[in-house]
Amino acid sequence: MLEVRQLHISRGGKSVVHGVDLDVAPGEIVAMLGPNGAGKSSIVLALAGAIPRSLGQVRMGGVTLDGLAPDAVRRAGLAIVPEGHHVLGSLSVHDNLRAAALMLPTSEVEPAIERVLTTFPELTPQLERLGRSLSGGQKQMVCMAQALLARPRVLVVDELSLGLAPLVVKRLADVVQSVAAEGVGVLLIEQFTTLALRLAQRALVLQRGRTAWSGPAQTLRDEPEILQASYLA
Ligand SMILES: Nc1ncnc2c1ncn2[C@@H]1O[C@H](COP(=O)(O)OP(=O)(O)OP(=O)(O)O)[C@@H](O)[C@H]1O
Ligand SMILES: [Mg+2]
Repeated sequence: MLEVRQLHISRGGKSVVHGVDLDVAPGEIVAMLGPNGAGKSSIVLALAGAIPRSLGQVRMGGVTLDGLAPDAVRRAGLAIVPEGHHVLGSLSVHDNLRAAALMLPTSEVEPAIERVLTTFPELTPQLERLGRSLSGGQKQMVCMAQALLARPRVLVVDELSLGLAPLVVKRLADVVQSVAAEGVGVLLIEQFTTLALRLAQRALVLQRGRTAWSGPAQTLRDEPEILQASYLA
């Protein structure tokens, strides 16, 4: 489904990702782990088309995403939840969802919102609240709902749980699992590696812009020293 080959990224004139390969199959959850500055968010932004890649290929279902702008990437079936669960503070929850549904034909916008509200029923009573008044967990739910509006084939979530309360994290983790169970591939970037490794089938450990390790998530659960070595190196 999502195939990334030899991805290279430069930021501010500095090379930060040097040849990363990555695959996410339909229904699969892949964890991308690694210490601060390893290049995880840079990869997310490059997949989204938000920052340029200097080299490499990104394909969805065999079709290249090279050179596509963020909205075209999204239409191709790749949805991103960026780091930091940002919503538009001066818009209501409903309008935040509408704003993210602009790529849909007008007649499909409200049905799509209804559909994502069945995934996040706790947002229904919050629809008229302003974005700025929401808790971090509610904001993350809005961001996930926005990403799910266009029925993506692959969902990329940068820092699903960062700064959120354990009960909310459990809810979000359940949603990730149910989305994957419906056949969506998920790339999960997490500081909290225990959570990511519990959800994922496969994992990738980045270190200074390179793949330090990749393989079954089970191996990293059984042998935590592999991960520790990457974080300490
Ligand atoms: N806007 C930017 N301009 C220039 N360099 C940047 C920018 N953002 C990040 N970098 C650099 O890119 C490298 C990778 O950073 P990135 O944010 O992708 O790492 P990360 O793995 O997501 O880290 P974290 O776990 O802290 O979120 C770092 O060396 C960082 O300093
Ligand atoms: Mg990051």
